[in-house]
Amino acid sequence: MPSVLIKTYGCQMNERDTEQVLSMFLAGGYDITKNEDDADVILINTCSVREKAELKALGKMGLLCSRPNAKPWVVYGFMGCMSQSRSNTLFRDIARLDIVTGTHQYHNVYKLCNRLLRNRLAQNITEPIKRGAHICAVAHEDGFQNAIKDHLPPSGNCTAFVSIMQGCDMKCSYCIVPSTRGEECSRPMNDILIEARELVERGVKEITLLGQIVNRYGREEPIINGRGAFVRLLEALHEIDGLERIRFTSPHPIGFRQDLVNAYTYLPKLCSHIHFPMQSGSDRILKLMLRPYKNEKYLKLCEDMREARPDLAITTDIIVGFPGETHEDYLQTKAAVERIQFDNAFIFQYSPRKDTPAAVMENQICLRVKEERNHDLLECVNRIATARNQALVGTTQTILVEGPSKNNPNRLQGRTSQNKPVIIEGGSAQVGTIVPVTITECTGFTLYANVQQ
Ligand code: SAH
Ligand code: SF4
Ligand code: F3S
Repeated sequence: MPSVLIKTYGCQMNERDTEQVLSMFLAGGYDITKNEDDADVILINTCSVREKAELKALGKMGLLCSRPNAKPWVVYGFMGCMSQSRSNTLFRDIARLDIVTGTHQYHNVYKLCNRLLRNRLAQNITEPIKRGAHICAVAHEDGFQNAIKDHLPPSGNCTAFVSIMQGCDMKCSYCIVPSTRGEECSRPMNDILIEARELVERGVKEITLLGQIVNRYGREEPIINGRGAFVRLLEALHEIDGLERIRFTSPHPIGFRQDLVNAYTYLPKLCSHIHFPMQSGSDRILKLMLRPYKNEKYLKLCEDMREARPDLAITTDIIVGFPGETHEDYLQTKAAVERIQFDNAFIFQYSPRKDTPAAVMENQICLRVKEERNHDLLECVNRIATARNQALVGTTQTILVEGPSKNNPNRLQGRTSQNKPVIIEGGSAQVGTIVPVTITECTGFTLYANVQQ
């Protein structure tokens, strides 16, 4: 039986897309492997959001393609966002590469790879191939969002991602995603509910809804009884017996209405965590970023949600060193971090992206200043996050037990409703169950706990 390996970079959307592609290989009789030497098909699902992510994928593929003892017939492919943005120029970078597929072509990946592999196996290739097949499929397809099905997370998983929409219609001046993922379009609610029910039947307890601006889901639909389509979707998912936890990522202040704030008061399955990107605490920078709202609106939404759900954990994304960012702008970002007391923040140094307006703005910030701000803000974020985690020691939390801890395979690991990882030190629990635990210790971002018997 041939085997396939997919390496995934980037966001949860890529992780979900990888699962979809793997499920098609499984259905075609392939084994899934983690071993590069075993694999007959090796794919990298790529991210373009920052230059580093692209360089990582290019470097990895370069190494894979030049392994001296690899099986000569291996099919090598790039999928995802970098494929979409760089398309067939990737063959110039890596001549041995066979296949490049874009973000609207996931459903064709299996067919293209399998056909090529079968051809090669039939030819009894023994010599290393120098130049790959150079097959490129990056066209956008209408109605593509309805092809997002056949979704099979690795069996035994009690958590799953569900894409509820594709693409992004915003034009944040730094961001490549609208050009890699295409226009925003939502899946029919019924398809999503059917998929969620199937996942629950297979043992899934927690679903994370995915979209670039997830709260804009179904925005062309009417508001009914004060509730927009996204909140109606949350309510419908909430009705599913056996589904215990609902998460979503990422929301955006645009289109974030009171109905979503209120949802935290009457939907107990909605987890007490929101990843809510702030990007900057300076209105001047937000304007240059083409994010059409003031920081105060963002801060107010955080505070309103905390009022609706007092134990809500808020995490965020912040860009430092956006073109023109002054020390004063930076200090405003830092002040916003202090005000909201985030549970965690991902800090990114601005990375100029191809064909985006910010890449050609004047006053690009030098690497040294970006690094200084990154370092300074990270210290601030870590101090706040550690204090918030420390405050949980001694409390009771409920965790969904997900499986062995990555760092310590002898221990089980779960996550709290606030999305904090917890390693079980004492007491017994079964994977896939939700159990109460007492938090006994905290080291930075990891909590340790005993199961309450
Ligand atoms: N759709 C999501 C964000 C997706 S990209 C949203 O709008 O909330 C994930 C994060 O990458 C962004 O929140 C942003 O902080 C960061 N990012 C995007 N483009 C970037 C760039 N050019 N340089 C640095 N960070 C970037
Ligand atoms: Fe990028 Fe902005 Fe769209 Fe998010 S909302 S994906 S940051 S353009
Ligand atoms: Fe990266 Fe594409 Fe996600 S650029 S962040 S993998 S949408």
